[in-house]
Amino acid sequence: MAISLREKVDEAKKFIQSKTKVKPGIGIILGTGLGALAKEIEVENVLPYQDIPHFVTSTIHGHEGNLILGKLMNKVIVAMQGRLHFYEGYSSEEITFPVRVMRKLGVNLLIESNAAGGMNPNFKAGDLMIITDHINLTGINPLIGPNDERLGPRFPDMCEPYDKELIELCEKVALEEGIRIHRGVYVGVTGPNLETPAEYRFLRLIGADAVGMSTVPEVIAAKHSGLKVLGISCITDECIPDRLEPVDIRKILKIAKLSEPKMTRLVRKVLEEI
Ligand code: HPA
Repeated sequence: MAISLREKVDEAKKFIQSKTKVKPGIGIILGTGLGALAKEIEVENVLPYQDIPHFVTSTIHGHEGNLILGKLMNKVIVAMQGRLHFYEGYSSEEITFPVRVMRKLGVNLLIESNAAGGMNPNFKAGDLMIITDHINLTGINPLIGPNDERLGPRFPDMCEPYDKELIELCEKVALEEGIRIHRGVYVGVTGPNLETPAEYRFLRLIGADAVGMSTVPEVIAAKHSGLKVLGISCITDECIPDRLEPVDIRKILKIAKLSEPKMTRLVRKVLEEI
């Protein structure tokens, strides 16, 4: 008989706890822009996704697949080195599974980063944006299917998807550090193609400031599980429909790389002040 999601989460949790003594309170998804943060973790254990029951591995070159347990700025953390995307062919349950496991390990705050296209005309490539809210246009939802009340409620509330106090703290830290930062709404799409000019115009019109291919399913699962969330986007390209240029993925990755030191500095300082 197929085992339930809750049983899978329990098996993964038990496996991880058999390999480490670390009891993390904060989970970090090292998305685009935060890769370098991995080097600053005082690592206790590195668990490859392929060793952990029910984890899937990232298919994207350059996205490693490890769960890292240790300390960062004196906080006990678990970090996902390598995130999973819907466009890779995984189900929304698979993508969000690690978030559920983090919760079972004792995590109560999730920090995530991503790369996003900036549609707000005030945004420049290389800027950072604190996510204040999101729009789920992925067409998927990790909560579809039978609900297990032990994992979370059938109809989870979404009135504060991103924690207001952490948004304030993150903005304060950015100002102190002289980091140019915005607040904005992130719209999640599946990708993997980028948007047409008409799609960017539509996404802007419905109230989004930035668009990207990740984060939203993870945040839905995080809120369902009762986690607080802080999300930061690195604006890698300017998506203004009337002056859209062909996108060069190498350029996007280069911008993300250039933003990495400030994103890393920001998250370190936020962790210090939590
Ligand atoms: N669209 C979707 N995802 C993205 C973009 C974009 O323009 N830029 C970086 N990630």
